[in-house]
This record gives sequence, structure tokens and C-alpha cells, in this order.
Amino acid sequence: MIKNIAWSEAISVNNKKIDDQHKHLIELTNNLIDHSNEKADSALISESLDELVKYTRTHFRDEEQLLEACNYPKLNDHKEEHELFILKVSNFCMDVMDKKATVTQEIITFLVEWLLNHTSKDDLDYKHYLA
Ligand SMILES: [Fe+2]
Ligand SMILES: [Fe+2]
Repeated sequence: MIKNIAWSEAISVNNKKIDDQHKHLIELTNNLIDHSNEKADSALISESLDELVKYTRTHFRDEEQLLEACNYPKLNDHKEEHELFILKVSNFCMDVMDKKATVTQEIITFLVEWLLNHTSKDDLDYKHYLA
């Protein structure tokens, strides 16, 4: 069983748009966790994974635009983190579609930990640069 995660003020970046997007990311992550814990329907698991990945792309794009607008000095490193994650997850999703892989709890744990870690460390780092 993977535990649900929650947004808290501790990871607020003091920007409503980004905070709302992080909250939605957490909501989608919890949907994926719930489906995988139920183990009932693999189609439902893939669907919720796909939804999470799509929204993550949207969020990364918006976040990078905002960081660019405030001249965040570590933007390139931050972008690279985003890109590596998307690359890894996209490859995995393709393998799932090709039936070369299944969405295991291990994979979901990796996703959950990456998102939590990124949001609570890397994202918090730009908090004081936001205009
Ligand atoms: Fe973020
Ligand atoms: Fe980020």
C-alpha cells in the first residue's frame, strides 16, 4: 500500500498559480496511488498515470515560463531536472503501451517520491525569486 500525499503550507512558493498547480499534481498523484492500491483495473491505472504525466508537462512549462520571467539564476539546472523526469516517465509510459512493462507499485513509489522531493526542495529554492 502506498500512502496518499498531501499539500501543506510548508511547500508553498507564495504564488497562487503554482501552489494551485502543485495541489492539482498531488490530487492526480493520489488518484494514481488509489487506483494502484486497489489493483482492480490496470486500464484505470494507466489512465491515471497518463493524466498525471500530461499535467506534469503543463505544470513544468508554466513554471519554467514564470522562472524565466523572474530571471531565476538556476533555471537551466531546474529545467534539466524537469526534462530528465519527463524523459524517464515518457519512456516508461511507452513501454507500458507496448506491453513491455506494467505499472508496478515500485514505479509509482518512484514517481511519488520524485514529485514530493522536487516540490519540497527544488521548487522551494525559487520561492524568493518570484516577483
Ligand atoms: Fe513545480
Ligand atoms: Fe520544478
